[in-house]
Amino acid sequence: MSEKVGEVVCLTGGSGYIGSWIVQLLLRRGYTVHATVKNLNDEKETKHLQALEGAESRLRLFQIDLLDYDSIVAAVTGAAGVFHLASPCIVDRVEDPQRDLLDPAIKGTINVLTAAKKLGVRRVVVTSSISAIVPSPNWPADKIKNEDCWANEEYCKQKGVWYPLSKTMAEKAAWKFAEENDLDIVVVNPGTVMGPIIPPAINASMQMLLRLLQGLYVLEYGVLFSPNLVVWPKGCTEQYEDVFMGSVHVKDVALAHILVYENPSTKGRHLCVEAISHYGDFAAKVAELYPEYNIPKLPRDTQPGLLRSKDGAKKLKDLGLEFIPMEQIIKDGVESLRSKGYIS
Ligand SMILES: NC(=O)c1ccc[n+]([C@@H]2O[C@H](COP(=O)([O-])OP(=O)(O)OC[C@H]3O[C@@H](n4cnc5c(N)ncnc54)[C@H](OP(=O)(O)O)[C@@H]3O)[C@@H](O)[C@H]2O)c1
Repeated sequence: MSEKVGEVVCLTGGSGYIGSWIVQLLLRRGYTVHATVKNLNDEKETKHLQALEGAESRLRLFQIDLLDYDSIVAAVTGAAGVFHLASPCIVDRVEDPQRDLLDPAIKGTINVLTAAKKLGVRRVVVTSSISAIVPSPNWPADKIKNEDCWANEEYCKQKGVWYPLSKTMAEKAAWKFAEENDLDIVVVNPGTVMGPIIPPAINASMQMLLRLLQGLYVLEYGVLFSPNLVVWPKGCTEQYEDVFMGSVHVKDVALAHILVYENPSTKGRHLCVEAISHYGDFAAKVAELYPEYNIPKLPRDTQPGLLRSKDGAKKLKDLGLEFIPMEQIIKDGVESLRSKGYIS
């Protein structure tokens, strides 16, 4: 256990895929954790957290709704730091984008930051995404995408890709609030997060791996195609731009959050991927490792214009994070899907 024994932190979205890993790591480091869930009476949200080592004495669960400011205040009270992860993570089609994605992401972020400011929180780590970096069709073709790159809101609206829009608008709102209210925030922008699953249900990114193993790939939001049904139609590859920039192990994402929280000198956004790569690279590696599954043969360049780089997450590497490579991310993800019975 570290010198963090006794320090209280609040983590929104504690029940989720990434949130559960961060709660586990925070408890291991000696923190006392206020983790939020949407429904305290639902064992599927609480039981896996209560089973973590240290939970009995140092984990408190709070029920929040991102649109209910008072519920957030209760969870943040007493915390020196906040990790704000809770946000709808839905890449399939939604009925009402404003209600289902944009409002909870943007208003929720402002509610959490307002509570943090009022209650004297020292630092807030905001979980954004590569979806606030891509799609960015106007980025110079010869330049590797980095933390200066922002997803293009107009493009997202035109294409109806609401999840990247929700993450982009929420992150921009967070930076604006922090500047106007002199609040210390730092941002992590993870790529597609995979690896072992702690909660009973699976999230959107592990769903993506599952679909690939089932011989399906996401061509467009909410529309699944099998390689037997459709050949890669010209012009469709750009859809991938919206959802992929590289993969990252869930343990590395958890560690990244803690590193940026604990290092007071960290500033700005932190791209968090093991490498900047294409979904085609990822699918090819899955096919190589698991020939027994019917993995679709995709073109290698599924993200036209995205330059590959091993050093995309340089800021986090400089903090000492040694990223788990793609091969291990896939193996840990597949193993977890097998052990939970999603695939045989
Ligand atoms: N997974 C990825 O590949 C990836 C990549 C980059 C960034 N991210 C970001 O990382 C964060 C966590 O994602 P995840 O993959 O762990 O997804 P997840 O498993 O779906 O977790 C999302 C969490 O947010 C909570 N939440 C959603 N809407 C809420 C609301 N209206 N009020 C209160 N809580 C709410 C969920 O509660 P319930 O469980 O009760 O629904 C859940 O705990 C999100 O901000 C996501 O955008 C994820």
